[in-house]
Amino acid sequence: MKKNDSNIKKAIKYLKNNECIAIPTETVYGLAANAYSHKAVSRIFKLKKRPKNNPLIVHYYSLSDLKKDCEINNTFFKLFKKFCPGPISFVLKLKKTSKISKLVTNNSNSIAVRFPSHQLTRKLLKKINFPVAAPSANISTSISPVSKQDVIDEFGDKLKFILDGGTSKVGLESTIVNLIGKPQILRLGGIESKTIYKLISSIKHDFKKKIKVKVPGTNKLHYSPGIPMRLNAKKNFYDEAFILIKKRKNLSKNYFYLSKKSNLKEVAKNLYKTLRKIKKKGYKKIAIERIPNINIGEAINDRILRASKNE
Ligand code: TXA
Ligand code: MG
Repeated sequence: MKKNDSNIKKAIKYLKNNECIAIPTETVYGLAANAYSHKAVSRIFKLKKRPKNNPLIVHYYSLSDLKKDCEINNTFFKLFKKFCPGPISFVLKLKKTSKISKLVTNNSNSIAVRFPSHQLTRKLLKKINFPVAAPSANISTSISPVSKQDVIDEFGDKLKFILDGGTSKVGLESTIVNLIGKPQILRLGGIESKTIYKLISSIKHDFKKKIKVKVPGTNKLHYSPGIPMRLNAKKNFYDEAFILIKKRKNLSKNYFYLSKKSNLKEVAKNLYKTLRKIKKKGYKKIAIERIPNINIGEAINDRILRASKNE
């Protein structure tokens, strides 16, 4: 406990000095910097090798903090009450008086925001008087990190500090909902779309239709393990790592399972971790079983489909 408190203090010191650090969230680790500081935010883009036209999500502790920077509406309020803090992000109108760096939003008048539920990061956010911009803490297009070690694997000693909060509980990025104009899900993620539909019946999720707000993170070149991945596999070839949803009795050495009993939340939690493990072991190819396209399975399928498309 004491260790955590002193680490939070350290993290705050770095953030106040406009440095970029990694912070844990319940979804994935974030590469965090003061969202009001141009200098701090530009460090995120540089470290991540992220194109400047790809805006960042800003992380808040409370609703009153958020109101300084954006306009809220009834739909936002309903979703906020039900899911926050938690793995959901909202695209809202930026207030003209906001101090958010223009780099964060790519100079647009919309902003993506969220309230992470991870206890360490909530403690940290409570103690500072600026919100924190934080994309996933990986080099652009690679897999998001879900532990301190994953972040080290991405950035080595280029990163000054990592706040260690254990393994991320959700293991997939937040669901992004656009609340400007007609509400729309822009990215599937930690909150299942069906629970959002139940609350806001008008909400539409249709990736096939052209969406007005571009989400570069939903481009093909994303979430890549860097090696070919074959989907819906019933068995593996001798040179493939085989990812199973459920543990089997006879596990051959090339088998990696995501859950003991095909629990989809567990599958989500272990997906990125397993992809990294397979790559570290030196495999050059991956085969993965079919994952049911229900509940959080939708978000899992979204990520592995993208991962399979860019070798
Ligand atoms: O779970 C998460 O959301 C994690 C943790 C660290 O909070 N963050 C995350 O950030 O996944 P990132 O940058 O890897 O993905 C954010 C996505 C990007 O695809 C970006 O294009 C989109 O959000 N985005 C950011 N601002 C936007 C905006 N104003 N309008 C539409 N999309 C936006
Ligand atoms: Mg990302």
